[in-house]
Amino acid sequence: MTSIEIKVLVFGATGGTGRLILKHLMTASTPKTVYKVTAVARNPSALNDHPDIENPNLTVTKGSLTDEEQVKLLVSLHDIIIFAAGLGILDGQTPNEFYSRSAKWIYEAINESQNSNPNRPKIKFVCITALGLCDDPERMYRLFKWTLKRWFQPCYDDMKIMENIFLNNNDDINYIFVRPAYLNNRIPDEELRVDMDGKYPLDEVNGLGWQLNRNVLAKFIVNDCVASDKYDRKVLGVTY
Ligand SMILES: NC(=O)c1ccc[n+]([C@@H]2O[C@H](COP(=O)([O-])OP(=O)(O)OC[C@H]3O[C@@H](n4cnc5c(N)ncnc54)[C@H](OP(=O)(O)O)[C@@H]3O)[C@@H](O)[C@H]2O)c1
Repeated sequence: MTSIEIKVLVFGATGGTGRLILKHLMTASTPKTVYKVTAVARNPSALNDHPDIENPNLTVTKGSLTDEEQVKLLVSLHDIIIFAAGLGILDGQTPNEFYSRSAKWIYEAINESQNSNPNRPKIKFVCITALGLCDDPERMYRLFKWTLKRWFQPCYDDMKIMENIFLNNNDDINYIFVRPAYLNNRIPDEELRVDMDGKYPLDEVNGLGWQLNRNVLAKFIVNDCVASDKYDRKVLGVTY
């Protein structure tokens, strides 16, 4: 049986969620579909201790989201682009263009690549943003609204621009935005709830969600967003 090769690019591969996304991608291949993964790292040696570093389906490339030419070249060579990069807690509180600039370059590279080669498979952008972007004040905890949401507003404002670059396009560009709530590695794996309007999940049994761990998020990104098209062109809110 001949298999299809899908080339996946991961920005933020050295981060808490990025490392777990690599782990799940390495077990996602099937006899029909092989995932060839490029992990982008500013410091590639940060992945030397990754359990899958010797896997022939994983390549680590030195790179940064500040290098437009490199970002665009890498995007044009892949079929699925995963964005799991993020700013640190201090940088997130000051105005910046980290997310919007990255999205602009990635969007332009996808558009250019698809237009110049209409026969190539469509590229999909799978991007982690944040539930802090939820615009329904009734669907979030007040404590969050009055504290973290205010402190990280510059970061959320820029993330919003990032999403809008893809959401407001008339081009044939595929995307999924996954908005997680608080990422907490100290809690066990549980079932993920998905809100299809990008809000905090809410139901009568479990109430309003507010956290999840990175492993569950990474598994969802790989199994439900990379290996499936069920959430294509959607903005999702995800929590336990
Ligand atoms: N933490 C939370 O509670 C929370 C909640 C909601 C949403 N999120 C979002 O979820 C995603 C994953 O979060 P996380 O906590 O797992 O991430 P993380 O551990 O903070 O990792 C951030 C990643 O971004 C990379 N990065 C930063 N600047 C970069 C640049 N200029 N070029 C390339 N890569 C760069 C870092 O690389 P280096 O290793 O080189 O620094 C690292 O790999 C992020 O988008 C975050 O905004 C987080």
